[in-house]
Amino acid sequence: MCGIVGIIGNRVVSGRIVDALKRLEYRGYDSTGIATLIDGRIERRRAEGKLRSLEARLEREPLDGVIGIGHTRWATHGRPNETNAHPHVTDRLAVVHNGIIENFRQLRDELEGAGARFESDTDTEVVAHLISHAMSAGLDPVAAVTTILPRLRGAFALAILFQGRGDLLIGARRGSPLAVGHGEGEMFLGSDALALAPFTDMITYLDEGDIAVLSQTSLRIIDEAGSEAERPSQQIQTGAFMAEKGNFRHFMAKEIHEQPEVVARTLAHYVDMAEGVTNFPGGEGVDWTKLSRITISACGTAFYAGLVAKYWFERFARIPVEIDVASEFRYRDAPLEENGLMIVVSQSGETADTLASLRYARDNGQTILSVVNVPTSSIARESHAIAPTLAGPEIGVASTKAFTCQLTVLFALAIQAGRARGKLDAAREGALVSALMSVPALMNEAMKREPEIERLARELSKARDVLYLGRGTSYPMALEGALKLKEISYIHAEGYAAGELKHGPIALIDESVPVIVVAPHDEVFEKTISNMQEVAARGGRIILITDAKGAAAAGVETIATLVMPDVDPVVAPIVYALPIQMIAYHTAVFMGKDVDQPRNLAKSVTVE
Ligand code: G6P
Repeated sequence: MCGIVGIIGNRVVSGRIVDALKRLEYRGYDSTGIATLIDGRIERRRAEGKLRSLEARLEREPLDGVIGIGHTRWATHGRPNETNAHPHVTDRLAVVHNGIIENFRQLRDELEGAGARFESDTDTEVVAHLISHAMSAGLDPVAAVTTILPRLRGAFALAILFQGRGDLLIGARRGSPLAVGHGEGEMFLGSDALALAPFTDMITYLDEGDIAVLSQTSLRIIDEAGSEAERPSQQIQTGAFMAEKGNFRHFMAKEIHEQPEVVARTLAHYVDMAEGVTNFPGGEGVDWTKLSRITISACGTAFYAGLVAKYWFERFARIPVEIDVASEFRYRDAPLEENGLMIVVSQSGETADTLASLRYARDNGQTILSVVNVPTSSIARESHAIAPTLAGPEIGVASTKAFTCQLTVLFALAIQAGRARGKLDAAREGALVSALMSVPALMNEAMKREPEIERLARELSKARDVLYLGRGTSYPMALEGALKLKEISYIHAEGYAAGELKHGPIALIDESVPVIVVAPHDEVFEKTISNMQEVAARGGRIILITDAKGAAAAGVETIATLVMPDVDPVVAPIVYALPIQMIAYHTAVFMGKDVDQPRNLAKSVTVE
C-alpha cells in the first residue's frame, strides 16, 4: 500500500508534502518520511509512527527545498521503524515506493555482490541501488530508470528525486496507482488525485507501465514499450477540502451518522421516485437479459456487500451468482462462461486483488461492472460500466457508509436485472423500490438505539471472543459484524451461518462468550431462533438484534435485545448494518482504541 507524493515546485515544499501525506494516511501510517534537495543535496527526515511524529521532527529540524518527495508507509518488508521508513537513498537519488518488489531478494544479493551497501530490510532499497548502479555505468537518470524497471517483478508506484537535479522528478507505475498534477510553474505526483487536491485539480493519470518525467513546467511520458506517449489530462472534482470530523470524536462516528443522508443520495441516483422504478444511468454496457452468470469479486467489507447481493440477484433476477474474495478468485483459474458479467465492489477502487480479479475476468471475456466510491479510481477506469456509490470520501479505515451505499446500489441493480429478465412484474418492482426508499428514515430510527449500544459496549469490552450468527442475508451481516469488531477493538470475533453453529462453533459457547444474533423477523427467523435456543441451553449470553415482532416471538433470555424499526426483511441488511457498526465502534472507543486508524490496517490495500 503506502502513499507517495512528489512536488517539483517554485517555493518550499516540505509543508505541502506533509499536507498531501495527511490525505494519504488512509494508505498506511506506520512510518513516514520526506526528502528534499537543498543546494542540490538530498536531505531527509523520517519518523516511526504516524505523520504527527514526522511533523514534530520537522518542527525541530525544518527542511527547506523546492523539490521533494514524501511517503506514508504500510510495512510489507521490514519492521515499521525509522530505518525502514522511506525515502530510501543512495549518494545519487532518493526514492519512495508503493507496492511490492517480488524478486527483491535476488536483486539484493546481486547488488550486494557488486558492492552495494544496504541500510534497510525493505524491498524498496533495491530500486534505489539498481538505478544508482545504472547511473554509475554512465546512464542519465531517465535512461537508468527506463533500463531497470523491466527487471522488477511485482507492483509498484515510484517517485524518484536525484542529487543535483532540481529540474527533474521521475514517477513510474505498474500495478499501483499514480497521478500527475499540473500546477502554475509546478508539477506534482501523488498516489491519488485527492492528495493533490489542495494544489491542483488538473490531473493526468498514468497508464500501466508508464514513466513520467517531470520538470517545473513539463510532463513527458514514456510508455512500457519505451515510446513517447500522450495521456489526456482532466479536470477533476475532488474538492480541495479535507474531510472534517465536525462535532464527532472520530471519522467513523461521523460516517456512521451520515448514512441516512448518503444512502438517500445514492438511492436517488438509481430510483425514479415518481414512477417507482429503478434506473441505471450509464448502465448501457450491461445487458442483463443475455447473462448466463454473474461473478462477484471484492475484499473485506465490500466482499460482504457482494455476499448479500448474491441473495438479491438470485432471488429477484434468477441469475446464478458466484462470489469469491478477490485474493482467491484471481489465482484459482476459474472458468468463466461467455456472456458472463463480473461485478467488482470496492470503496477505493484501488484494491490490488480486486483490480487483478477484474483484469482476469476482462481478459476472459466478461463484461465488467464496478460498484465503486471513487469514480476516478483504477477499477472504475478499467470497467465497462460503473455504478457509483455516492457515499463521499470515507476516511475511517473500517468501512461503514461505503458499505451501506454498496448495498443500496446492488439492491437497485438486482431489481434492474429482475425487471430486464422478466422475473419481476411492475407491482413487485414497485414494492421493492418502496422498501428501498424507506431505508434512510428507518436508519434514522435505528440510530436511536445508540445509547443502549453504548451501555452494551462496556459489557462486550470484557469479552475475549464474540460470536455473530445470522441466516440468509443476515449471515453476511454476521460476518461483517465480526469483521468490524475485530478490526477496531482487537477482540476476537467470528461470524457464522446460524445453522452451521452445531457443526463446530457451538463447542466455544460458555458464559464468557457473548453471542450476537442478527435476526429480523423474516422467513428464516424461527430457524435462527432455534439456533439461539441451542446457545441459551449452553449458558451462552445472547444479544439479539431484531424488530418488535422478533423480540416478542423470540422467547429466549438475552442480555440485551436491540429492537430495530419494522423494516421489509428484504432491505433489512442495509438498516441492520447500523447497530452492527455502532456495537464495534462503541466497544473500541470504550477500550480506548484508535478507531479511525486501527493497528496494522490500512484503508486502501494496494498490495496482494
Ligand atoms: C481494507 C479496508 C476495508 C475494506 C477493504 C476493501 O481492508 O480496511 O474496510 O473493506 O480494504 O477495500 P475496497 O476499497 O476495495 O472496498
